[in-house]
Amino acid sequence: MDNKNPINYLEEDAIFHLRTNRSSYVIKVQSNSYLIHVYWGKRIDGGSIGWYCEAPYRRQNRIENNSPDNPGYTSEFWPYEYPVFGSSDFRPPAINITNSEGYSLNDLKYKSHRIYKGKNRNKNMPSLMEDNDKNIYSLEIILDDKPEQVQVELLYTVYPEYDIITRSSRVDNYSDKPKVLNEIMSSSIDFKDGQMTMVQLSGTNLRENHIIERELTAGTTSIESTRGISSHVQNPFFALKRKGCTENNGEVFGHTLMYSGNFVYRVHIDQYSSARVQTGINKDTFTWLMEPGKSFMTPEAVLCFSDEGMNGLSRRYHKVFREMMPQKIRKEERQIALNTWEACYFDVSHKRIIELAERAKQIGIELIVLDDGWFGKRNDDSSSLGDWDINLSKFPHGLNGLSKDLKKMGLNLGIWLEPEMISPKSNLYKLQPDWCLHIPGKKRTEWRNQLVLDLSRVDVRQYIYKKVLEVLDNSGISYVKWDMNRRLTEVGNSILPPERQAEITHRYTAGLYEILGKLVRKFPSVTFENCASGGGRFDAGMLYYFTQAWPSDNTDAISRLKIFYGSSLCYPINNFISHVTSVPNHQIKRSTPLSFRIDAAMTGILGFEMDLMDLKPDEIDLIINKVEFYKAHRSLIQFGTLYRIKSPFEGNQAAWMVTSEDKTRCIVWFFRFHSEAEEAYWNIRLTGLDIEKQYKCEATDIIYPGDVLMNVGLNVPWKQEDCLSHVWSFFAI
Ligand code: GLA
Repeated sequence: MDNKNPINYLEEDAIFHLRTNRSSYVIKVQSNSYLIHVYWGKRIDGGSIGWYCEAPYRRQNRIENNSPDNPGYTSEFWPYEYPVFGSSDFRPPAINITNSEGYSLNDLKYKSHRIYKGKNRNKNMPSLMEDNDKNIYSLEIILDDKPEQVQVELLYTVYPEYDIITRSSRVDNYSDKPKVLNEIMSSSIDFKDGQMTMVQLSGTNLRENHIIERELTAGTTSIESTRGISSHVQNPFFALKRKGCTENNGEVFGHTLMYSGNFVYRVHIDQYSSARVQTGINKDTFTWLMEPGKSFMTPEAVLCFSDEGMNGLSRRYHKVFREMMPQKIRKEERQIALNTWEACYFDVSHKRIIELAERAKQIGIELIVLDDGWFGKRNDDSSSLGDWDINLSKFPHGLNGLSKDLKKMGLNLGIWLEPEMISPKSNLYKLQPDWCLHIPGKKRTEWRNQLVLDLSRVDVRQYIYKKVLEVLDNSGISYVKWDMNRRLTEVGNSILPPERQAEITHRYTAGLYEILGKLVRKFPSVTFENCASGGGRFDAGMLYYFTQAWPSDNTDAISRLKIFYGSSLCYPINNFISHVTSVPNHQIKRSTPLSFRIDAAMTGILGFEMDLMDLKPDEIDLIINKVEFYKAHRSLIQFGTLYRIKSPFEGNQAAWMVTSEDKTRCIVWFFRFHSEAEEAYWNIRLTGLDIEKQYKCEATDIIYPGDVLMNVGLNVPWKQEDCLSHVWSFFAI
């Protein structure tokens, strides 16, 4: 085996060995026919492991000759790489196709393979980078069902320095009859052992991405969305921890999809306590008609292995996703925004914005994001979505006039749009009442007085693209907050034939990606913010187009600490927008001190969303100081490596830190939510520093050896008060 090569094919044993810097992934072709999953885990450099699969891996004594040529071959004893429907493998399949006679028996056998440098990706869907200079290699394995004349191509790309392997599959119908694709997974992996803990991010609107852990047990455990978006309820990420895995040690397997629609992730623990782990489009809201000669390609699964605990997994995901974000601006420092929503709600006007902008400039803000209320007749949420024309009585000089006036003050202009929506009270609805998702003759559910435009339709997509272009062209806008405030209901239309109605949810997601791809290419310098009533579409698919996201409509500082901590399991810190808002908090009515709110909002992309005219002089001074600190450290905060120290889900405190790649600088955050007497004593032990280095605390000038900070740690601040926060910054001397 060539140890330098990320993908090796060992012909003698018919083994594919995919390797990253610290992980191995092994597949075997069994007796020249079925594809067996052999191993995924810590990197192995030793010789062949072909022996591993010489015999059925369990119940060996009960089967005399369980080879695929034997009529009695039983597939339920084998670990498969891409299991099919209708065989004697009774576990969940990765693919299920029905032929024109109504039979669903799939039999996919190895046909050929190809190994090459680079990546042959689906250009219409988000995908991890394909740059050749990154030592990226791909493997394509073709599986063939000869009697049915269907081929499946399994695509693997290995990202050695990130310990990541991406997977997707493409099915081709090369017969002369149509077939129905009932289910197709992006990834399927059979682990021999199922004794693992599943870590998921769950919640709801205003309580996104809370960490939940559960032990796997017999049967199927799944997370999913059927809401048309990846959803606030289950985030499309999960990790499986082996016994003994902690924050910084042990083995963990991460799964996420580059997909923002209905997904399912499931783990099936079978009768022998083995685990089948799958990710893909949710079959409950999906079928796809494949005409002769047509194909279908799945979204991409991003699989990551870490033998350095959960934090190791997060570090790898953060690194790769940062590299994947829109190229031109991904390395730029994110600006500090004032968003007008909680400051003005719908009551926006040129005059009001300029007044706020003057104060914003004074405290160091760089960008004004004009949220809802600027277009059509939009004075509340009852109308105008779809009519993306500026309200000239509120903005007599247009968007261009506003951006010019802001530019003079040294500020940029951003704008809120919700392009996927239509209000029944709008000019667009009068003209095109059938452009929303609907089932002819049935009621159309209105949420927040709005319906969803049918992005599966070409004419609708063209309209949306044209309207966004009109807003952005020559308006001086450098930032777009792209919102989406509904789930998909009555998913249907009167355009597609009956047998294609169940394709609409996926066509919607693909249609959204088409529009976003065109916009990002046309406006490479514009920053796009992803929002769906907060974190309703906070997923890796959206990260491909958006450099940042609004993670929750809950802006309470303590709630946000939890949302940040959960989100950080998979998503990078420079994707996470945090705004300082007024108190009592508008969503949950809690009051927290201003310094606590700013410290909390600094652990991401700092911004403000409050009426700055209400600030008292001492509050203005405090903000100016903190904003200066943030600006001085924001490249470290936004691009550094995150280490979690204390989880807010485990008690009354939270702590984490960010270090620079060369370990010469770090920032540490500590938060205590409520004042408690005599809480258990502990020290904040830092991670990711250099034990050889001496670090100076910026505020106190005290010098600490690296090994002291890492082993002894910092004292927890013990001041007896509610909502205590402390931020330290250290640099190596
Ligand atoms: C959604 C967003 C908010 C705000 C409003 C405007 O709720 O999540 O941040 O933009 O819409 O209507």
